[in-house]
Amino acid sequence: MKTLIAYVSTHHRNTHILARSMAAHIGADTIDLLADGGPSKEEILSYDLLGLGSGIYALRHHRALLRFAASLPRERAGKCFVFSTRGFGRPDLYHRALHRKIRRRGWEVLGDFSCRGFDTFGPLAILGGINRGRPDGEDLQRARDFLRSIVDEAAQRSERSTR
Ligand SMILES: Cc1cc2nc3c(=O)[nH]c(=O)nc-3n(C[C@H](O)[C@H](O)[C@H](O)COP(=O)(O)O)c2cc1C
Repeated sequence: MKTLIAYVSTHHRNTHILARSMAAHIGADTIDLLADGGPSKEEILSYDLLGLGSGIYALRHHRALLRFAASLPRERAGKCFVFSTRGFGRPDLYHRALHRKIRRRGWEVLGDFSCRGFDTFGPLAILGGINRGRPDGEDLQRARDFLRSIVDEAAQRSERSTR
């Protein structure tokens, strides 16, 4: 299953660590949307599965990731998964805005993953931050298990659709 993981990670590179670890597990390609720029439509369409993730900033994914989702090619109803690292709070709420953008392009979200990430935003810096050392080994293992189940699901769906 040819997979591309597109991410944004600006605060402590927490999401970068997560994205790279997931990618290494299944041999996926990664693209850092801020450092590398967005992939072309043709590049995106050459993948079977797309991952989209970032840290959570003010209750939602990074705006560059939201913009990327809003420009997904409509030529195909692609399959994707969504992930994040966060300081605290509810990922189901934080992921809503990204889900909406993806759905509007006719793409399907197969699943979501989120874990804690080191956070020194604002007054948290005075306290030395929260979630030091996260994502940790356990987080990365959970993410890899999640990804394996998503890849299996995507493979089953494409098998069904070609029957
Ligand atoms: C400007 C800013 C706003 C943030 N807002 C939230 C938030 O609303 N909810 C939350 O759980 N974490 C929030 N965080 C914490 C980050 O989501 C967390 O540290 C994340 O792991 C950062 O990922 P990154 O290192 O990949 O950028 C915020 C951090 C920053 C810098």
